[in-house]
Amino acid sequence: MKKIAVIEQIHKDGLELFEKNPEYEYELITNVSEENLIKKLPEFDGCTLRVSKLNENILKHCPNLKVISRHGVGYDNVDLPFIKKKNISLLITATANAVAVAEHVIYMMLSISKSINKYDNEVRIGNFKKNAFNIETLELFNKKMLIVGFGRIGKSLIKRCLGFEMKVNVFDPFVNEEVIKDFGGKKIENLDEGLKNCDYLSLHIPLTEETKNMIDYKKIKLMKKNAIIINTSRGGIINEIDLDKTLKNNMIFGAGLDVFEKEPLDKNNPLINNEKVLLSPHSATFTNECKSRMAIETTKNIIDFFENKLDKSMIVKI
Ligand SMILES: NC(=O)c1ccc[n+]([C@@H]2O[C@H](COP(=O)([O-])OP(=O)(O)OC[C@H]3O[C@@H](n4cnc5c(N)ncnc54)[C@H](O)[C@@H]3O)[C@@H](O)[C@H]2O)c1
Repeated sequence: MKKIAVIEQIHKDGLELFEKNPEYEYELITNVSEENLIKKLPEFDGCTLRVSKLNENILKHCPNLKVISRHGVGYDNVDLPFIKKKNISLLITATANAVAVAEHVIYMMLSISKSINKYDNEVRIGNFKKNAFNIETLELFNKKMLIVGFGRIGKSLIKRCLGFEMKVNVFDPFVNEEVIKDFGGKKIENLDEGLKNCDYLSLHIPLTEETKNMIDYKKIKLMKKNAIIINTSRGGIINEIDLDKTLKNNMIFGAGLDVFEKEPLDKNNPLINNEKVLLSPHSATFTNECKSRMAIETTKNIIDFFENKLDKSMIVKI
């Protein structure tokens, strides 16, 4: 019998896999304070993990832990050097969430381009046609898209952009030209050139020392006045202060953010009062369908891990 800690609630469809399998017993842990995790986790053989942090201070109290199964694909909340040292495997839901994130990007691109908040408000306050004609809106058709990071989500996004008849450039030094061409995109080698030419920029890269602040004032300054920036990858890749400043100075048209340097946002984060930015609470994967897929993949990964039949794409190489 394997004991699994389900750290934070996940969709019932995933938990059912444990309930149907007598080899597994799970306990839901909703109090994710460091103190409680140190108290609870030592007895478990594996755990699922959403957004709470598993640092060395917690993990050093878990002698039985063999596997951490992330509900998602990012893993900056796990202490990688420590789990490597202790030979704890880290798994991700590699196939479950790309479509939901790609659709979220399209939702943000369309919402900002169509100034939907302004139109909606005009109707509600009784201004049906008073200002509508003068509200500036844009089309995706024929526009240049720049996708930075051509992994699972970038590849899912390009198909949707091509559906809108956009021209798609891709910046990802680690993916070769042929792969990008096969997907209908064009590889670019120089990020600055890509930024100068694009109408829409969408980021799909991990947060690393190299990508931190990748999009700052200098980079945004290169972009067109009508450009729109979307970030659904990780906060910190775009410098939020610089983004706020450039939006207020009308240097770009708008921005959509699902992820932030500090989550939840500080009340004094200037972006909260900036109407040119569309915000969502790190919720790109919160569709009913994706929550179910992610939960199933998270628990299935644990079962497959203990039964030695895990798909390699689910394992993070540390
Ligand atoms: N908003 C959300 O809820 C949500 C959900 C899922 C994933 N994410 C985030 O989205 C990002 C992408 O996820 P994915 O599943 O597509 O990851 P992935 O690992 O499949 O792809 C990442 C790609 O980024 C490329 N890359 C790495 N460094 C780069 C650099 N400096 N410049 C350009 N390209 C670079 C890699 O070559 C790779 O192709 C991750 O940061 C992940 O955490 C967010």
